[in-house]
Amino acid sequence: MTQWTPDSWRRKPALQLPNYPDQVALQQAEAKLAKMPPLVFAGEAATLKKRLASVSEGKAFLLQGGDCAESFAEFSAIKIRDTFRVMLQMAVVLTFGGGMPVVKVGRVAGQFAKPRSSDTETKEGVSLPSYRGDIINDLDFTESARVPDPNRMLDAYHQAAATLNLLRAFAQGGYADLHKIHKWNLNFVKDSPMSQRFEDMAHRIEEALKFMEACGITSETVPAIRETEFYTSHEALLMPYEEGLTRTDSLTGEWYDTSGHLLWIGARTHQAENAQIEFVRGIKNPLGLKCSPALHPDELIRLIDVLNPDNEPGRLTLISRMGAGNVSEKLTPLIRRVKEEGRHVVWSCDPMHGNTETSSSGYKTRQFDNILSEVREFFTVHKSEGTWPGGVHFEMTGQDVTECTGGADKLSDGDLASRYHTACDPRLNANQSLELAFLVADELRAFHE
Ligand code: PEP
Ligand code: CO
Repeated sequence: MTQWTPDSWRRKPALQLPNYPDQVALQQAEAKLAKMPPLVFAGEAATLKKRLASVSEGKAFLLQGGDCAESFAEFSAIKIRDTFRVMLQMAVVLTFGGGMPVVKVGRVAGQFAKPRSSDTETKEGVSLPSYRGDIINDLDFTESARVPDPNRMLDAYHQAAATLNLLRAFAQGGYADLHKIHKWNLNFVKDSPMSQRFEDMAHRIEEALKFMEACGITSETVPAIRETEFYTSHEALLMPYEEGLTRTDSLTGEWYDTSGHLLWIGARTHQAENAQIEFVRGIKNPLGLKCSPALHPDELIRLIDVLNPDNEPGRLTLISRMGAGNVSEKLTPLIRRVKEEGRHVVWSCDPMHGNTETSSSGYKTRQFDNILSEVREFFTVHKSEGTWPGGVHFEMTGQDVTECTGGADKLSDGDLASRYHTACDPRLNANQSLELAFLVADELRAFHE
């Protein structure tokens, strides 16, 4: 293998990268990015790797979730808080149900660039370049909006920095204190069956906290009750942005991509010879790899050889997105092969990307029942293979959107138009996310029985 440098990806074939018409502006934006302070610290990414190592050993569970695509227009403190709050609720439900630590990773503070199946989008006979995420171009369907603009990388960086600042404050400043558990229940979820279920559980947790307090275990003596660890992740897609934020850690001398804690490779850019793979192999962050039904076990092993040559536990999370009905046939051979070869990985389930469809009303949507089915199939397959179903990966929001159908509120195709706000794929709303967490917790409990 050739020598790795932060820019060695430039000598590899690249898929899904924009063609910036203004190369001078691109170089200027890259130079500015290279001078920006890191968004995350190497030590944090290393700690996340340790947490994931414990997931790979079956001692913890991974919850990864957030927007399909963060957007400049939808950016607000309220939205960040609400997504964080639902993830906290979900994590508590999973911790309580599974009886084990839950590692929380947001698709946030950098999840801007999107791979597209087609380079162009056609509406009423007009064809324009596809929207590739706010870090690249604009969603508006006009010629000028779709021109890739490198300065958007700097706007994305600043939005990511502000987002992370708030997330760190929430995670460590007292908001995540388990004593506040009742306050996390979102207003509009209040009267739902999910809210009731959450309140019941919160009540039991409160009783346990009171008992522990009587024994001298308080927020003051045990910081884990008062604060939480929350990590960030996004798809490693837009290479100039990722290279621009890559730094050597002054303590270890190792390279880290400081744009986020965990970076993953998407289902469309995982060819072993391509630019994105070349880039991530040289950074020390924990990595994710999406596994689609097209991924052959031989190809997976080749990729693991490149991405985790030292077989380091926690380095690699395999995120399977097979689609409901496909998990047994498509995931089983991958699990068997990885097990035979003795590779340490975290197995996580993304039940979103294999279950996207177009509704009769014309919206891109996902059915709650298909999402749930894929998660259940994932647990079943791991149970029969004797491996650990280490985590779940959701596209979700804390807002009361109408983008996925089904769930306890029985959203129908006809409801989609009322609050369909995603810039890309349909997300679970707050109620649907919490409901799914309870159902996954049931699976976790059953898995141990
Ligand atoms: C995504 O996670 O938003 C995505 C595009 O997924 P995949 O690469 O699995 O299609
Ligand atoms: Co998506």
